[in-house]
Amino acid sequence: MDAISVIRTKRDRGELSHAQIDWVIDAYTRGEVADEQMSALAMAILLNGMNPGEISRWTDAMIRSGVRMDFSSLAQPTSDKHSTGGVGDKITLPLAPLVAACGAAVPQLSGRGLGHTGGTLDKLESIPGWRALLSNEEMLQVLRDTGAVICAAGDGLAPADKKLYALRDVTGTVEAIPLIASSIMSKKIAEGTGALVLDVKVGSGAFMKNLDDARELARTMVGLGTSAGVNTVALLTDMSTPLGLTAGNALEVRESIEVLAGGGPADVVELTLALAREMLAAAGVHGKDPADALRDGSAMDHWRRMIAAQGGDVDAPLPVAREQHVIPAPASGVLTTLDAYAVGVSAWRLGAGRARKEDPVQAGAGVEMHAKPGDTVVAGQPLLTLHTDTPERFEYAIEALAGGIEVSPAGTAFTPNPIVLDRIA
Ligand code: URA
Repeated sequence: MDAISVIRTKRDRGELSHAQIDWVIDAYTRGEVADEQMSALAMAILLNGMNPGEISRWTDAMIRSGVRMDFSSLAQPTSDKHSTGGVGDKITLPLAPLVAACGAAVPQLSGRGLGHTGGTLDKLESIPGWRALLSNEEMLQVLRDTGAVICAAGDGLAPADKKLYALRDVTGTVEAIPLIASSIMSKKIAEGTGALVLDVKVGSGAFMKNLDDARELARTMVGLGTSAGVNTVALLTDMSTPLGLTAGNALEVRESIEVLAGGGPADVVELTLALAREMLAAAGVHGKDPADALRDGSAMDHWRRMIAAQGGDVDAPLPVAREQHVIPAPASGVLTTLDAYAVGVSAWRLGAGRARKEDPVQAGAGVEMHAKPGDTVVAGQPLLTLHTDTPERFEYAIEALAGGIEVSPAGTAFTPNPIVLDRIA
């Protein structure tokens, strides 16, 4: 077997054999297939696709490149959620303790932000003392003690994906449905969760810009999960505008705590409850209604224990950026556009995100929104507050918002997109 013949097969629109897939994933993980060869293959896959049999074998080979975790010793069934990434998407933070409070165990392996989409680990790291890196034993212990754990995937889990994802990120090959589906599902199947709910984002701030592509991605992932014995469901959810009123690390933690305290923006609460109900149903847990767990404080109790178990000081003040800049509403009327991608790039440029994996992020940086699409605004009222420690970034962050904000004359009819656009099971 050699890399060139595998690349040529896909370049010429052929079907990769199981033996070719097994070999190329294993040889790439061991360093025998070079990055430039794997990037040529990834581009051929992006351009020519893979059939369901190839995607399934590719996913399986990535799972076999590392270890599989096992939560079968836990008393409760496990249920996990994965989002394909969005702007202001802090849902994992209230969701994991909420689902734990309702009786399922939540082993949530999360990632860091790259580009305009935020990462759950970066958000939680703004809590003083909180640790993302846990050993497998520590992870199991936190899960046993608190019902939920959010941490980084260890190096042993799907190492082929770790290498390949970093390569795709710098070779323009992220947006390929077979590669996204196999990347996400290899990690989730190796993680060993019994049930999985996928939040497939659709819109300007997501990888999938339209519903048809999002449905295809969702169907592919649900198929992979189901055939691996994981009870998998997908919700397609709107990402044309940011979720909630904040995009940025500590800003989003603050908003998540508001949701756990029974308040918070209506869209964040609605999506958190929709995903919680799906996670509990997929795990076969039918006890408490998640809305009650937000109201009665039990979700907040689980949050406090989960954060403290990973070294976080739940009572410490969250970091605040040194400088703020207010963007006023450009006119009076109805806010008809607040574009997710524009806000995501702006938050990223303020320092909330990173351009390269090794870059640090600013805990306090980001964008705070004072209105949502459909709200009436008055010219000059604060519309956004930009936060950063490094004010020289303001100009560049403001540029990112060009074309992303539209105010239409008062009385303009506006129907917001529903949060949940479709469900695939
Ligand atoms: N998230 C992943 O883990 N992998 C992808 O390919 C895209 C999003």
